[in-house]
Amino acid sequence: MALTVLSWKKKKAIVERCHDDYATRMLLKYKPFYHTMDAQQGAHVRLDGKEMIMLASNDYLGLSFHPRVIEAGRAAMLKWGTSTTGARISNGSRAYHTELEEKLAAFLNREACFVSVAGYISCMSSVAAFARKGDMVLVDKNVHSCVWDGVRLSMATIERFSHNNPEDLRSVIKTVPHNTPKLIVVEGVYSMEGHVVRLPEIAAIADEFEALLVVDDAHGFGVLGRQGRGTVDHFHADEQVDVLCGSLSKSLGSTGGFVAASRKLIDFLRFNSKQTFFSAALSPGQAGCASEALDVIQQEPQHLERLWQNVRRYREMLKGLGLDTWESQTPAIPIVLGSKELVYRFWQALLEKGVFTVMSIAPAVPPGKDLVRTAISALHSDDDLDRISEAMAYAVKKL
Ligand SMILES: Cc1ncc(COP(=O)(O)O)c(C=O)c1O
Repeated sequence: MALTVLSWKKKKAIVERCHDDYATRMLLKYKPFYHTMDAQQGAHVRLDGKEMIMLASNDYLGLSFHPRVIEAGRAAMLKWGTSTTGARISNGSRAYHTELEEKLAAFLNREACFVSVAGYISCMSSVAAFARKGDMVLVDKNVHSCVWDGVRLSMATIERFSHNNPEDLRSVIKTVPHNTPKLIVVEGVYSMEGHVVRLPEIAAIADEFEALLVVDDAHGFGVLGRQGRGTVDHFHADEQVDVLCGSLSKSLGSTGGFVAASRKLIDFLRFNSKQTFFSAALSPGQAGCASEALDVIQQEPQHLERLWQNVRRYREMLKGLGLDTWESQTPAIPIVLGSKELVYRFWQALLEKGVFTVMSIAPAVPPGKDLVRTAISALHSDDDLDRISEAMAYAVKKL
């Protein structure tokens, strides 16, 4: 009896803590997230019956509505069914997994590649599987939460260095004993800030201190480099980067993730990444879409050209309005407003004018950097950009 009361109380304490959580209550009150769109067509969505321009997704090349990509997803499902309903290590890979991996590896100039159901899982495993207790992981303090989860799971010791600051990385790594195995992890393009990593300097430090260099290029893949090969290609740094991970859910318009590296590292990963080998495989539809999108980006350069044309116009527009874009150099463009009140007001004004964006406030961003995150797509038309421009001017007046 006493045991029953005790376990009931323990459960209740957690339930009450969840029910009373202030942050959750505020999120429910102001409803900034989890809007349910009634419909979508390209960069246009319908929310509560109102037509909106989507300025928050990462469909950089606009391939999520490309007819070839849609058709490839359909064809893959007709051929292979909807799911493998299990992990590759137990019920086997399918030809579409290995074909996609070979195509990605060739595109990224790596020996091998390993795909999973999410970029989050792939990027997390590219730290968790390679680092272990006793190692030192040096992390840019602004990396995505998947990397932090990977570091925590690895049980390695963590050292943070200032955002995109090779000088600080050097001062930190100098203090690590020479015989401690080291791993440095950075993003190719930082998802919130839109900054491009200072890869040449960071890679030189990794080389000098014999650290494994991992680059999460979720937002550089498809956007930078030749035909969108990504940040590493952009800097001609193939030789210096050991592990390249990213997402199929942004420029490739699918869902899933990848890790690309030498064959030996990928062989190791395939047997040491619990996140992937205890989880069901990438589905035929997702793999089919990603694989076709990879062909499209190599055969149809117009998407990448249009993306950058849109980025230039959009950046000029924001600059003209005096908005702070945190020196973003890429299609991920934050509008830094500095407080959650201003962010909320700006975001609401944009919503009123039919432009859908996303808020990011501290602690998700550094204090004082509260922002509205926007992302440009090749799918945005000139007319969309005109409407975005009017909405931005209106939102600035509301500040
Ligand atoms: C830098 C970075 N890495 C990894 C991910 C995870 O990718 P996915 O959404 O495919 O799980 C994201 C997602 O936004 C990201 O921004």
